[in-house]
Amino acid sequence: MKYLTPTTLLLQATTALATPLLASRQRQDPAVFTGVSSFRGQGCEGATVTYDSLSQVATITYPNYGVVIPSGPREESCSTTLQVRFPVGQCTTGTASGTATGTVNVPVGVTAFFSARDYAIQPTIGTITDVSPNGQWAGPRSEEYVLQDSIGYTLTPPNAQNNLVNFTVFGDLSLQPQNGPVGSLTNRGFVFDIRTQVPC
Ligand SMILES: *[C@@H]1O[C@H](CO)[C@@H](O)[C@H](O)[C@H]1NC(C)=O
Repeated sequence: MKYLTPTTLLLQATTALATPLLASRQRQDPAVFTGVSSFRGQGCEGATVTYDSLSQVATITYPNYGVVIPSGPREESCSTTLQVRFPVGQCTTGTASGTATGTVNVPVGVTAFFSARDYAIQPTIGTITDVSPNGQWAGPRSEEYVLQDSIGYTLTPPNAQNNLVNFTVFGDLSLQPQNGPVGSLTNRGFVFDIRTQVPC
């Protein structure tokens, strides 16, 4: 075994103590998902959510979110609100990205719509670049679809009371004309990813 002088031992102990302190002072706490605030609408029925190990990627599965003509349901909606905890009193800038996947099967003469208003973010703190994750497919189309969008934001939660932020994505599926020939549109999943974060 190597002989260590008392000075070396003291230095090692000091370094061991100082390193984590320094690291925690420099590290910015990341924003993380804390859970689903709400699922609203018939299309959300049976929806489940899972998170990655860092709680920064939420994967939502919708087993019953779909429309079909002529038998119905002809219109379905689902609003999903995910709650994110931002670090208190620190500025966070980032890009949250959403990916919706599903299937579209429409013959000529039928158009499928995924209508979503801009994401709603509450409370409305900081600056947000709004996007609208809409989709539209004119038949004949028969495919798996992927809709991607992203929201840029800069948030500085001013105090401990409002570091929780709700991100809501609205959605509504429909087929036009509703009395048209056989067609269907589903939204099977939605992935919301908040990994891209930079302290500001
Ligand atoms: C987030 O949504 C939940 C459930 O709807 C609500 O109770 C809470 O007040 C919302 N938080 C904010 C900051 O709007």
